[in-house]
Amino acid sequence: MIERASASPEWRADNLSVEKVGTAAQQALLCRIADWAQYSYLGLIGLAIFARGIRALVERRRGLIRLSYGNGKTIRVPVGLSVLEASTRFNIPHSSVCGGRARCSTCRIRIIGDCSALPEPSNRETFVLDRVGAGGDPAIRLACQLRPKCDVAFFQIFPAYTSVSSASKFAPVHPGKERYVVSMFVDMRGSTKLAEQLLPFDTVFIINRFLTAVSQAVVECGGQPNQFVGDGQLALFGLSATPQTACRQAIEAAARIAVHIDALNEFLGDNVPEPLRFGIGIHGGEVIIGDIGSQEHTVFTALGDSVNVAARLQDLTKALSCEVVLSQDILKTAALSAGDLPRVEVPIRGRVEPLVLHTVTKAGMLSAIAADFAVAAA
Ligand code: FES
Repeated sequence: MIERASASPEWRADNLSVEKVGTAAQQALLCRIADWAQYSYLGLIGLAIFARGIRALVERRRGLIRLSYGNGKTIRVPVGLSVLEASTRFNIPHSSVCGGRARCSTCRIRIIGDCSALPEPSNRETFVLDRVGAGGDPAIRLACQLRPKCDVAFFQIFPAYTSVSSASKFAPVHPGKERYVVSMFVDMRGSTKLAEQLLPFDTVFIINRFLTAVSQAVVECGGQPNQFVGDGQLALFGLSATPQTACRQAIEAAARIAVHIDALNEFLGDNVPEPLRFGIGIHGGEVIIGDIGSQEHTVFTALGDSVNVAARLQDLTKALSCEVVLSQDILKTAALSAGDLPRVEVPIRGRVEPLVLHTVTKAGMLSAIAADFAVAAA
């Protein structure tokens, strides 16, 4: 169609004028730019191929060693690579939850035969192996830390998924990483009594409304509802915020939960035997965040001591007759004073020192603290 139209002098005058297609000099410049772009692109590809060639040459000069995986598979790799790097380079599935940073021990291997020629484990590797009770056994090593200089045979203690396709199927969207996160457990009180007095579907309806009100408060304050366990919820703060902000967000969320649950109680009125009540536990610390689960199903969550402590604090709200129990660390990290909040100390399993806590009779009382830092931030 364009070919036919271009035969007309009017069309040519309209579409091929200097304003539309530029001068001959401009067209020549454009052609030169297009040529340069093409040459540069090809040059970059050539450079990458050349660099790979140089790397292969340098690695060959350093020498090659054999790694035998104990299942008949043997690869030849350059000296200097860690066993885990070698597995990755040759697409051999190898468990490595922490990504090779000596933080997990899932890449552990058992050396078959003599271990005396292997480099000594570093302090970090020794620490991890001691932690998992393998410190006294020279045959157990971390594949991500071991850089053998001679042939070595081993087998993986935690075999990864056996085929590359299944491994990639499980490839987590969020591989594990360490991060300071504030965990908040919120639990609905009296749900058993509720279930006894209401029809099952009505109970589910009310629990859903309760969890929605809690989630709404969490999201409004910058947190993330993470897991629902029955009538309870784990919310995380600090997945993309500083520890101070995370602590402040959690405190503010606790105050807002009170507001949302008050509104819900008003809405439910006489349809529930008694107003909905709740308990909240808040604690923060370094945890591992990432996807956990099976090949078919993974969930993003946080794992670590501080998550368990937050759950315990939520439980303590019953014994301490209050709505919120938060650790002193939360207030300290938020750079806030505890003011008149009662202080208690509780022993925590695995800790020498008891944990210092503050109790809050009514979660709404935290709105005064939240207002303080809102003013400070303004
Ligand atoms: S990959 Fe985690 S310790 Fe080696």
